[in-house]
Amino acid sequence: MSDERTNPHAPRADGPAAQRPGGDSPGADAPRTDGPGVADRPGESFQRATRYERQSLRGWQLDWERQPSDHKVYPAEGRVPLPEPLREGGPGLWSLLQRRRSERRYTQESLSLAELAQVLWAGDGMTLAADDMALRTAPSAGALYPIESYVAVHRVADLAAGVWHYDIRRHALDPVRLGDVRVETARAALDQQIALTADAVLLWSAVFERTTWKYRQRGYRYMYMEAGHIAQNTALAALGLGLATCQIAALYDEEANALVGADGQRESVLYMSTLARRREATRERR
Ligand SMILES: Cc1cc2nc3c(=O)[nH]c(=O)nc-3n(C[C@H](O)[C@H](O)[C@H](O)COP(=O)(O)O)c2cc1C
Repeated sequence: MSDERTNPHAPRADGPAAQRPGGDSPGADAPRTDGPGVADRPGESFQRATRYERQSLRGWQLDWERQPSDHKVYPAEGRVPLPEPLREGGPGLWSLLQRRRSERRYTQESLSLAELAQVLWAGDGMTLAADDMALRTAPSAGALYPIESYVAVHRVADLAAGVWHYDIRRHALDPVRLGDVRVETARAALDQQIALTADAVLLWSAVFERTTWKYRQRGYRYMYMEAGHIAQNTALAALGLGLATCQIAALYDEEANALVGADGQRESVLYMSTLARRREATRERR
């Protein structure tokens, strides 16, 4: 199991990544010109294949009969209603932006249910019920809301350990599977220790057809962006409560999907974030 010293995604204190924001993905900023053709480089073919061109948009029509639902509903058995979140006030945004960092050292002290509830709501919670839509804290292309939020609970007071699904409309958690999932979560997160030592790990999946129904292949771009919006909301809200987060995109897709019960075809996990209490660096003794 890797920790912050061996984690390839953690910035190295002495390495070039320390000087370069986002420098943890090797070569990410350098377009490749060598190697095989573009067909063998799916990232580049994806970017090309999902381009908008004037002629490709002609005759684009929607099949309203086949519009997918914008949320998953789990059986009510075992549902845990969450404490109402604060929707006013809170810490200053400028100071949160100034102080936001990916934190990887945590205490082993539990989160409270109210803290988890506040962070879940801030990430992608409902802010306005309009017609049959539930508008959220995070924007969504076409208000189609492809992202589902799950949380692997390791240590939260008054909540059983296991994987839970966040029901955005009810502001409640539904059990997906109960039990100790710490090792499985960390394994799914490319063996990163932070996913084991955190109090909870949020997992965001996309239900692809919600967005491809309207935007077709272009929609795949949007879903990753939307997960990013939610993750940033989450990070700032957690910091506002004095909690720590670290985003995780380095994951074994099939293992992450197995954790939340996604099939990997219609629904797949895109992104994760730890949630925990920050452990202050211990002062060196002189
Ligand atoms: C898309 C994305 C994926 C990331 N994946 C990981 C990860 O898997 N593990 C990790 O420790 N940090 C991960 N990070 C955090 C970055 O390492 C971190 O944001 C970067 O070093 C800058 O530090 P800061 O967030 O403290 O400003 C990820 C960040 C982003 C935006």
